[in-house]
Amino acid sequence: MQKREKYEYLFGEYLNHPKIKETKNYSHHGINRYDHSYRVGLHTYNITKVLHLNYESATKAAILHDFFLDEVDSKNAYKKLKDHPNVAVENSKKYFNINEMEEDIIKKHMFPITFSPPKYIEGWIVDIVDDYISIYERVTSLSKRLQFNVNFIILITFICKLF
Ligand SMILES: [Fe+2]
Ligand SMILES: [Fe+2]
Repeated sequence: MQKREKYEYLFGEYLNHPKIKETKNYSHHGINRYDHSYRVGLHTYNITKVLHLNYESATKAAILHDFFLDEVDSKNAYKKLKDHPNVAVENSKKYFNINEMEEDIIKKHMFPITFSPPKYIEGWIVDIVDDYISIYERVTSLSKRLQFNVNFIILITFICKLF
């Protein structure tokens, strides 16, 4: 079984949950929130498995780390950054059972924006993976937009040449 298939098999309870799937409707770093969380979960799974850490809790918390819909005020960017981990914890508790480590990982994944640092090494890994993936997604989305602009400019230049 491929790593990705194993990940989807082991964490299907979360990845296929209808409420989690609703996060597909919300944009996040130029993609949707579901795809972002799926990716953070997959990388966390691979890293924590290789390091023989608690990959079950780390991956579950990584999938749930941005589990919010429209409960957070999206007009205030700083408030959104600061508040969404607590909303994700509330939603995770509402729909699943989470242990103390999983709660800590979700609550502190925005460190240093949220002031207290993760208590567990698994939490530091989710925090760093989330940062890395977020930057990757923003850059990819920006380059796609620039690519569109490049194509648009080429098209306009071509049309101008015709006349
Ligand atoms: Fe987040
Ligand atoms: Fe995130």
